[in-house]
Formats: sequence, C-alpha cells, structure tokens
Amino acid sequence: MEPSMIRVENLIKKFGDLTAVNDVSFDVQKGEIFAFLGPNGAGKTTTIKVLTTLLKPTSGSVELDGLNPVSHHNEARKAFGIVFQDPSLDQDLTAWENMNLHGVLYHVPSKIRRERTETLMKLFELWEKRDTVVKQFSGGMKRRLEIARGFLHTPKILFLDEPTLGLDPQSRNQLWTHVKHLNETERVTVFLTTHYMDEADRVAHRIAVIDHGRIVAMGTSQELKQQTNTESLEGAFLALTGSSIREESAGSADQLRQMARMFRR
Ligand SMILES: Nc1ncnc2c1ncn2[C@@H]1O[C@H](COP(=O)(O)OP(=O)(O)O)[C@@H](O)[C@H]1O
Ligand SMILES: [Mg+2]
Repeated sequence: MEPSMIRVENLIKKFGDLTAVNDVSFDVQKGEIFAFLGPNGAGKTTTIKVLTTLLKPTSGSVELDGLNPVSHHNEARKAFGIVFQDPSLDQDLTAWENMNLHGVLYHVPSKIRRERTETLMKLFELWEKRDTVVKQFSGGMKRRLEIARGFLHTPKILFLDEPTLGLDPQSRNQLWTHVKHLNETERVTVFLTTHYMDEADRVAHRIAVIDHGRIVAMGTSQELKQQTNTESLEGAFLALTGSSIREESAGSADQLRQMARMFRR
C-alpha cells in the first residue's frame, strides 16, 4: 500500500455561524489524482485553504506528507504547489520571469531552476512565448503557466482549485493532459477541485462528492455510478445531492441541459 500524502480526519471549519466544512475525512495516497467534485459554496476552496496552511481548522486534524501544516508550517509548505482559482501571476513580467521569481522564492538552485523552467515551459507549450509579458497571454496560456510554475519546485503534492474555470473545452483538455503526464512521470499527488463532472470523470482516480460542507460519497467514478445505480457521473451526482443541485452549481447552461435530459429519460 502507498503511503498517505494527505490525511484529513473529522475536519470542521466554521466562519462564525456558518459551517463551511462539516466533519470531512479522507485520505489521498502517493501518486493519486483525487478530486473534490461539488457545486459553488460546497466547501472545496475552504478545504484546500486549510490543507495549504492558509486557514486553521476549527477542529479535526490534517496531515500533509506526514506533517501537521499548523505546527510544521514551513516544512509542509515545501511539500506542495498550489494553483488557485484566482490568477496570481505578475502581469507585467514575462512568462520566464514569473517562473524564475517563483523558483527564487522556493530556493530552487539556479541551475535546476533554469533546466526545470525550460522542461516545464516546453511541456506546457509556452517555451516559444517565454519572453512575452503575461498580460498579453490568453486565459488558457496563463493557466498553463500557473500550473507549470506550481510544478517548478518539484512538489510532492499539487493542489489545483478549479483550474479550468472559464477555459474553453480545448484548453481544458490540454491542461489535464499535461497534468496527467506529470502525475505519471513524476508521481506527483494531485488534489483538484472542479464542478465539471466530465473532468472529474476523466482525470481523477478517485472522487469525493461534496455538498454543503459534507462528503456525500467517495470512490472511483465507476463505484459512484454503481452505488447510485446510474450510468453517468452526472446521474450519480444528482442522485447523491438530490434535486438540491443549486442553479449556480452547474457553471454552464450545457450542464443544466444535460441534467434535464437525464431526468426525462
Ligand atoms: N472567509 C470567509 N468568511 C466567511 N464565509 C466564507 C469565507 N470563505 C468561504 N466562506 C463560505 O463558506 C462556504 C464554502 O465556501 P468555499 O469553500 O469557497 O466553497 P467552494 O470553493 O466549494 O465554492 C460558502 O458558503 C462561503 O460563502
Ligand atoms: Mg471555490
């Protein structure tokens, strides 16, 4: 059995009266791609923030690569890379400069920094554009650069919080192909969140369906479909979260239409 890279036990995170994460437990093993699938407001980002030391848990325990991110803040930070929902690139720097700055901040030795920057930028098809300032990049290129940058310090775990939000289907596809490649070649553990069911289905080894701060089901896509006696992950999601799939959750009219079709069958 592979060691656990992420362990979460009975995690609760409250903001005042609101319980954003409500008694969540799960384990992610080395080399696994694990997805949190859930609508807006389900508690996905809050969980990632607790795991990445940006928020303290209200109660429960969290371990990253065997370390408690609350008491071993600095060591835990080196173990992971993170790409947030909101872009965090310096728009006035070139792609290469953004990579280099990140490498310096993470104390990556200069030779390795240069080599790895080149490898990653080539893999993410950005090497030709290395001297272009980021503000001239398309949305898809910016996302790819952020993810390439997240890999620069060779993290053991990569957190991706809705990395494909707002991207066209082709860019989404391309991005996951690269992430899967790095997962396979470097055995980096990936924790991702998404509200696109097709993505969770295609990319993740295991999926936790989260709604209103609680994990309502967990397993492979196949297992979720079997548990709910449905033929698609969309159907499983509906069965698990009930009709309460909130409007804003679908993220696109397409997904709502897909669900409507399921209902009619
Ligand atoms: N800093 C905060 N203060 C108060 N409420 C928050 C804060 N961050 C998130 N929330 C609330 O917690 C719930 C879960 O949010 P979030 O984790 O961002 O969901 P998701 O990422 O799944 O969309 C939401 O109801 C959100 O409004
Ligand atoms: Mg979020």
